[in-house]
Amino acid sequence: MVGAAPDVRHFCRLNAVPLNPQAIIFDAYGTLFDVHSVIRNSGAGIPGDIDALSQLWRQKQLEYTWLRSLMDRYEDFWQITAAALRAAVRQLSIKVTDKQLESLMQAYLAPAAFPEVVSALEALKELPLAILSNGSPAMLAAAVGSNSLRLYFAEIISVDRLKTYKPSARVYALGSETLNLPAGKILFVSSNLWDAAGAKAFGYQVCWCNRSGMQMEDWGFAPDFTVSRLDQIGEILKGRPPR
Ligand code: LAC
Repeated sequence: MVGAAPDVRHFCRLNAVPLNPQAIIFDAYGTLFDVHSVIRNSGAGIPGDIDALSQLWRQKQLEYTWLRSLMDRYEDFWQITAAALRAAVRQLSIKVTDKQLESLMQAYLAPAAFPEVVSALEALKELPLAILSNGSPAMLAAAVGSNSLRLYFAEIISVDRLKTYKPSARVYALGSETLNLPAGKILFVSSNLWDAAGAKAFGYQVCWCNRSGMQMEDWGFAPDFTVSRLDQIGEILKGRPPR
């Protein structure tokens, strides 16, 4: 019907799942924390295309998690992140010193939270909130602590307990087990579409935070709704259109 006010349920929700979550689980890197802030804030003095380095570092980091999971050869996310950085600088022929690599790794312990994270968590804090991430426990504690977000989370869950990575169904099961709720009663929020798909395949309600206007991919596990910023989730759960 031309001219009718957009219905939030059609605008935001792709699946007809009633949204009344009893808890919310967030992905960490890329969702709460901007992985590209590391090089943006601490890459001064590194020669070459540091945006390309940041992209390739992230891409290799994720590839290594998938490969190591399939090989059943777990190394924790800190080791993987360091190996991915070394591979990315080599591939791009960027000349860096060991000291520069070390300082980028240290900066990975304090990635910037996206600007709307605090207001998003404030609006949702009546529900139990948790993080379920590939990050090692020490990395997650450091990232959460350096952004003063600890008070918002009932649980910070690392895949390290299982020694495998997302999108293993065992990882998603750990979230639901830790919160002691069925996955269908939990909203899982990720900016990583492959992570959103993994969570949906497991059975969570899923919100994809699509900050950069990426195209949806069709794996048969579409998120229940999409936002462009985390602070739109509170409004959508109240049935209001996002601003
Ligand atoms: C995480 C990855 C997906 O935080 O970035 O689990």
